Order: sequence, then C-alpha cells, then structure tokens
Amino acid sequence: MDKKLILVQGAGRGLGLALVHQVLQDNVACVCATARDPRAADGLMELQSEYGEDRLMLLPLDLAEEDSIAEARRAVGAQYDRLDLMITCAGLLHDDQGLWPEKQLADIKPENLAKSFVINATGPVLMIKHFHDLLTHGERAVIASLSARVGSISDNGFGGWYAYRASKAAQNQFTKTASIELKRKSQALICVGLHPGTVNTGLSEPFQKRVPAKQLQTPEQAAKHLLGVIAQLSPDDSGQLFDWAGKRIQP
Ligand SMILES: NC(=O)c1ccc[n+]([C@@H]2O[C@H](COP(=O)([O-])OP(=O)(O)OC[C@H]3O[C@@H](n4cnc5c(N)ncnc54)[C@H](OP(=O)(O)O)[C@@H]3O)[C@@H](O)[C@H]2O)c1
Repeated sequence: MDKKLILVQGAGRGLGLALVHQVLQDNVACVCATARDPRAADGLMELQSEYGEDRLMLLPLDLAEEDSIAEARRAVGAQYDRLDLMITCAGLLHDDQGLWPEKQLADIKPENLAKSFVINATGPVLMIKHFHDLLTHGERAVIASLSARVGSISDNGFGGWYAYRASKAAQNQFTKTASIELKRKSQALICVGLHPGTVNTGLSEPFQKRVPAKQLQTPEQAAKHLLGVIAQLSPDDSGQLFDWAGKRIQP
C-alpha cells in the first residue's frame, strides 16, 4: 500500500473530525480515527460510510483511561505495522460540570486543575508512550499534539485561565522531552505541538464574542492550515511549538 497511515485521536468532532475529513478528501491516507464513543460520533460514522472501512478505521479511546489507550494501540497494531503521522486533538477548556476558565486565583479548584491536566497534558504524552514505536521506523514521521498559544509562558500577557494555560504548558514540556528521547530512536521523527488559531468549535464557542470575524477559522480552514504546516516540518523542528501559519511560538 503506498498511502500514508495517519492516526487522529479526538476525531469525533471539532478539529479532529475536520482533519480526518481533509486527509480522506486529499486521498493520500488511510486513517485510524479515535473518539471516546465512535458510534455516537455521527460525522465519523458518515465518513466511514462514504470512504469505507479500508480507508477509515474507527476505534474507541478515552484519554483518561490508560488501558483504553493500550487497547487502541493493540487494535491499530493488528492492522498496521507503522504510522506516518499521529495527531492528538483532545483538549479541555470548559465542561458542564463546573470547569470554567479561571479569571482570578479565587476561582482555582484543585479538581479542575486535575481534570485539565488529565486531558491536556497526561493524555497526549500517554499517546506518545503507547504509539511511538509505530512512528520511529527511521523514515519521516510526525507526532503532532494540538496545543495552544496560551500555553506559552513567555507569551502570557493577560493572565487568567490557570488550568488551561498550565496544562498546555505541561503538554508542551512533554512534547519537548519526548522529542529528545525519540530522536535517539529515529533521527527522522518530528515531534511537535501545534496551535490551531481560534477555530469555531465547541471549545471556543463561549469565548468567540471578542474575536474579530476574520480571525475565527472554520474547522475546515484550520485543518488545511495544520496539514500544510505538518507537511513542511523537518527533523530540526522537533520539540517545538508552531502556530497554524507555521510560525514558531516561543515556550
Ligand atoms: N478551538 C479553538 O479555538 C482552539 C484554540 C487553541 C487550541 N485548541 C486546541 O485544539 C484541540 C482541538 O480542540 P477543538 O476546538 O476541536 O475542541 P472540541 O470541539 O471541544 O473537541 C474536544 C475533543 O477532545 C476530546 N476529548 C475530551 N475529553 C476526552 C477524553 N477523556 N478522551 C479522549 N478524547 C477526549 C473530545 O472527544 P469526544 O468527542 O470523545 O468527547 C473531542 O474530540 C484541543 O487540544 C484544543 O485545546 C483549540
């Protein structure tokens, strides 16, 4: 098979779903797509009907359960012995159980910090832990974790959003640290964080009012930009964080 093999975690909605759609449309890849409950992800199910199970494999994966990551790894390994690209998309900024970006120190709740770290930091590094051996085959391969500019410590001019900022900063540190270890296994592996810009998804929806219309991307636009950035990456870029336009973000 000469098609590339791509794994997209968090593919049930938002940016992950748009990324899966884009790579299938481009006709360059077979995709393994994960969601916590793929059968309940209508968009993914429709894509599988359109493109077929050979092009789109669907797997359940819950980042909060390491066993579920290990099980997905076994299922991918039963079908494929290598991947060319893995994109981890999951992110948590708010939920309907009391998690909301903090405005001030008084808003900090340890349980919300813990929840944010599980999805934004621990989850992405566990994906690398379990799947890296499929990507360190010695040829060009990319591990990309969707991160956020607000995870940059040097770029923090506004404050607030303690849990999201700190967990994304931790994610970026995990990416850098893994990039150093994995370079020893494959010089051709590129391990990066990517900031997608502000994108019209459930994650950003409550915060879009102050975003100028032309700065708000559709998930389809953002997916095209991110795949363009990934295509241009070289091994020297490994360990770094880039925005949707391919510009490096300082940690
Ligand atoms: N949208 C923006 O403006 C923006 C800006 C900067 C950075 N980002 C980053 O871009 C990435 C994608 O965000 P989005 O806008 O597409 O968000 P979204 O539409 O809210 O989607 C969130 C994703 O996270 C997944 N997820 C949540 N908890 C999970 C868990 N326990 N296990 C596995 N997956 C879980 C969801 O999967 P389920 O469908 O299974 O729930 C869903 O795929 C995130 O990392 C986010 O931080 C987004």
